[in-house]
Amino acid sequence: MLRSTLEKLEKMNQLLICEREVNSEYELGAVLKHFENKRPILFNKVKGSPVKVVGGLYGDREVFYNLLNINHENRLFTFMDVIANSKPYKLVSNGPIKENIIDKNIDLSKIFPIPKFQEKDSSSFITAGILVVKDPDTGRHFTSVRRFQINGKNEVSALIASPKLTNDFLELEKLNKPMDIAIILGYDAPFLLASQISSFTYGVDKYEVDSALRGRPLELVKCETVDLLVPAYSEIVLEGKIIPNKRKIEGPFGELMGYYGEAANHPIIEIDLVMHRNNPIFQVAFPCREEHLSNGLIREVELYNSLRNQVDVGDVYVTEGGGYRFNAFVSINKHQEGDGKSAIIAALGSNKDLKQVVIVDEDVDIFSLKEIEWAITTRSQASEDLVVIKGGLGSSLEPSHGIRGVTDKVGIDATKPLGEKGLKFERAIIPNYENIDIHKYFPNIE
Ligand SMILES: Cc1cc2nc3c(=O)[nH]c(=O)nc-3n(C[C@H](O)[C@H](O)[C@H](O)COP(=O)(O)O)c2cc1C
Repeated sequence: MLRSTLEKLEKMNQLLICEREVNSEYELGAVLKHFENKRPILFNKVKGSPVKVVGGLYGDREVFYNLLNINHENRLFTFMDVIANSKPYKLVSNGPIKENIIDKNIDLSKIFPIPKFQEKDSSSFITAGILVVKDPDTGRHFTSVRRFQINGKNEVSALIASPKLTNDFLELEKLNKPMDIAIILGYDAPFLLASQISSFTYGVDKYEVDSALRGRPLELVKCETVDLLVPAYSEIVLEGKIIPNKRKIEGPFGELMGYYGEAANHPIIEIDLVMHRNNPIFQVAFPCREEHLSNGLIREVELYNSLRNQVDVGDVYVTEGGGYRFNAFVSINKHQEGDGKSAIIAALGSNKDLKQVVIVDEDVDIFSLKEIEWAITTRSQASEDLVVIKGGLGSSLEPSHGIRGVTDKVGIDATKPLGEKGLKFERAIIPNYENIDIHKYFPNIE
């Protein structure tokens, strides 16, 4: 889990170790933000706490591929395969997570250095915690990253924007029953990726998806106070209950798009027991776009599949600047004139959060903003290639949607025409350019 990830990152020369003492209020987040949350950092000394903190772990695409043992080319089909062919996990009788068990006088802020990230955040927040719940009907485990506002002592508020989880909780609430939960910190890349699959769409046990992705059964132990399983090698587990018929103000909180999400009433969780390894490492995720890479990778699978029903897709990129959810670039192999527009329809229909899409030909690198700009500039005409759909549903995480309650969707078809007209778009090339060895001309150049 986390410890083997840190070893792997060290071998990859990717882990920064901070020996200088940092304050968990603002300073720790500022250091993470300096590297755009793409450099994994282990903070060995955090003011007022013996507990180490790690952050910035899973925000860089190449590093994340490496940690998952996959590559850019096989990512989409690997993810599809593990969702469709999930594998059994393994229940073990004990594990390092049980090295320390606290079940009395729990005061989360005293046990762990829980950071406050941004100026107007309402409190300190657990930002990388993976919530696990069990489906009441099927017994399947559903994991997801959620933020948890520290309300004091053993109480946190949860922001849960999930159709499945919300429905299950509301059903229990009608019977005045609490929902058993556990919050897991100190996990690895497969565990995170599996958590980002939509429970509502796929309904698969995410521990089983994780087991397929890691190529061996995920080892799990039983919780002490709730009927749930958690990873034997995780760093920290909080066991508790979402309390029925009780709400408290959660937020404001600086969210992924860099704006403050409004304060609103949300359910609360009481933590009844804390387990942690010896010398636990507290995991954080700076609340920003880069940290949502794992979510974007799953959205790329959904986008690709939706497009594949209509056109010959090259590659898809649900972009970092668009929060890995609101904006996408797609390359297609165009066979018929309508393919560009069909791709726009398929893309905008793939997920309600998606707001903008640009469709280009396969010769354009969709991961280069310069190439996208070039394709829009030279291959599209607004009166013919801009598709606007007014007043659809979007995401409350995006303030221009928030003020209207609806959002406009836009697609740009920046593919070149086929046939005779397409000849105008032949790219000028230099024969043998790729084989030029510039060191022969400038021996000392870097
Ligand atoms: C770093 C990070 C933070 C997230 N924070 C939240 C959050 O606070 N609330 C939320 O509902 N989803 C959050 N998500 C998204 C959910 O974890 C994700 O959509 C998950 O797949 C939902 O699972 P579900 O379909 O079982 O609801 C976050 C994702 C990441 C990667």
